[in-house]
Amino acid sequence: MSALNIKGLKKQFGPAEVICGVDLVVEKNEVHAVIGPNGAGKSTFFNLLSGAFPPTSGEIQLYGERIDGLSPEKIQKRGLSRSFQVSNVFGNLSVFENLRCACFKQSRAGYVFWRSAARVREANRRAEEVLEMIGLQALRDVPAGSLPYASQRALEIGMTIACDAPVVLLDEPTAGMSNTETAQAIKLIRQVAEGRTLMIVEHDMGVVFELADRISVLVYGKIIATGKPEDIRNDPKVREAYLGEEAA
Ligand SMILES: Nc1ncnc2c1ncn2[C@@H]1O[C@H](COP(=O)(O)OP(=O)(O)OP(=O)(O)O)[C@@H](O)[C@H]1O
Ligand SMILES: [Mg+2]
Repeated sequence: MSALNIKGLKKQFGPAEVICGVDLVVEKNEVHAVIGPNGAGKSTFFNLLSGAFPPTSGEIQLYGERIDGLSPEKIQKRGLSRSFQVSNVFGNLSVFENLRCACFKQSRAGYVFWRSAARVREANRRAEEVLEMIGLQALRDVPAGSLPYASQRALEIGMTIACDAPVVLLDEPTAGMSNTETAQAIKLIRQVAEGRTLMIVEHDMGVVFELADRISVLVYGKIIATGKPEDIRNDPKVREAYLGEEAA
């Protein structure tokens, strides 16, 4: 069974159709990149998958079960977690507290004040594990708001995977990073992808071609091509609509 099966997905904002009938199957454990020009609808596509708003029409199946129209919380519980293009961390809380919150949010305890000791222990354990994975042990007690930008993005990825969802969506995880920071981020994303299904929106073609098993090209709300990186690179339609423009 596929991780995601998307059929005839549409989203209209008022008179404007932003996602215009997307069909896509994402296989289990695949790294699937979504590329396309600014305003193509990439973040909107992720918003539909993660339940930020319901589609106007169409179907989204996660492991064969419909999730379209469910709340983001329910979708996350079903196993799909997403990061945001704009950072979503709590600036006043420490790195570790941010991770703990993300772990709690996922457990049934939610934000309830009285939590069982076992749940607290489990959230702490998971937060430690993720802290190490994102390489921020040394910055554990620093308020997230005063982290360097790249570390904040790493924390964001950590919070996205804190719930250990099998399907993860990352929206421009390396935007605004230097080359060195991007190389670090690629390592982290590789680790995240291990044993998971990953969808990633990225403008940096180096990152895309390094990480993706397959790529979909979204232009004006339509997928104009899906395929292996080398096929996408050589697709004349794609070059015309997007890659040519990037290269120029
Ligand atoms: N909540 C909303 N209400 C109205 N219009 C919206 C909303 N969200 C997105 N749009 C519009 O949908 C279109 C696609 O936006 P979206 O953010 O999905 O593009 P994108 O491909 O992620 O772009 P970028 O590469 O710049 O991040 C834009 O024209 C945007 O203005
Ligand atoms: Mg976007």
